[in-house]
Amino acid sequence: MKRILVIGSLNMDMVIEMKRMPVVGETVLGTQVSYVPGGKGANQAYTAAKLGGKVKMLGCIGKDDFGEVQKSNLTKCGVDTDDLKRVKEQGTGMASIYVDERGDNTIVVVPGANLECNISYLKEYDKALEECDYVILQMEIAGEAIYYAINRAKELGKTIILNPAPVPDSLPDEIFSKLDYITPNETELMKLCGKEGGSMKDYAEGARELLKRGVKNVLVTMGKKGALFVNREKEELFPARKVSAVDTTAAGDCFNGAFVVALAEGRELDEAVMFANAASSIAVTRNGAQTSIPAREEVEEILAEMAVHAAS
Ligand code: RIB
Repeated sequence: MKRILVIGSLNMDMVIEMKRMPVVGETVLGTQVSYVPGGKGANQAYTAAKLGGKVKMLGCIGKDDFGEVQKSNLTKCGVDTDDLKRVKEQGTGMASIYVDERGDNTIVVVPGANLECNISYLKEYDKALEECDYVILQMEIAGEAIYYAINRAKELGKTIILNPAPVPDSLPDEIFSKLDYITPNETELMKLCGKEGGSMKDYAEGARELLKRGVKNVLVTMGKKGALFVNREKEELFPARKVSAVDTTAAGDCFNGAFVVALAEGRELDEAVMFANAASSIAVTRNGAQTSIPAREEVEEILAEMAVHAAS
């Protein structure tokens, strides 16, 4: 099993469930509040470890109870958290998540300690980059740290996956050619390539635009529409499994974490995407971020069912 390094955010999610989202200026009554460990980086690390990956995480938390909960949740799941940094200047990142009865969500993140995940911290833990095979990053930590880590990982010959979420207005031009995989959702893809449109043709064109900028492989996650893979040799739509979603929070993180585990196990690309699709199809049927991540056996069971279905 190859080693996976996740560099990213850790947040405590305050999840508020409601029938429908408020519009600007409106107050609505919620039905439930819960606190769930989240953060895109932590969710991906948690998923990768829960699904059997050898995972280490670099990131920053505060010296508060939320930081402690984050660290112990990841550690219990098998993530190497030894080099997570506890900072005293900032509190652990927080996310306020609204989930409506259709399972859709809106999220506001206050990064807090995540912004201390900067170049000097990454330089201090360079060994983690040296020792891994796959590096996966998202965009909830300091931008300079993301670009530094990508450049350094490239220098070291690692396989690099960027999940561009939350999506910035643009990425520095020189970054694209360093990426082995970029995994935006449809909205993130269109923003990154500066195009408009909402059809599969638009997404395929958008993905090809990112290839032109130098990315090797583009994997667009499209929720119930499935995942679209595009590289110079092929373009393929991997349909999603039909399920009743109750909460889509962290579905993308689950997809990314599962995808990197499958790659680290040496699976073929098609199999890796199907594995990730199966994992995230389970995550959307459960509430919360890390609380929604399935076990390996559950994913294998779904894959077996899908294989029987495809053969009949
Ligand atoms: O992708 C879901 C995650 O986004 C949540 O866990 C929240 O913390 C934000 O980072």
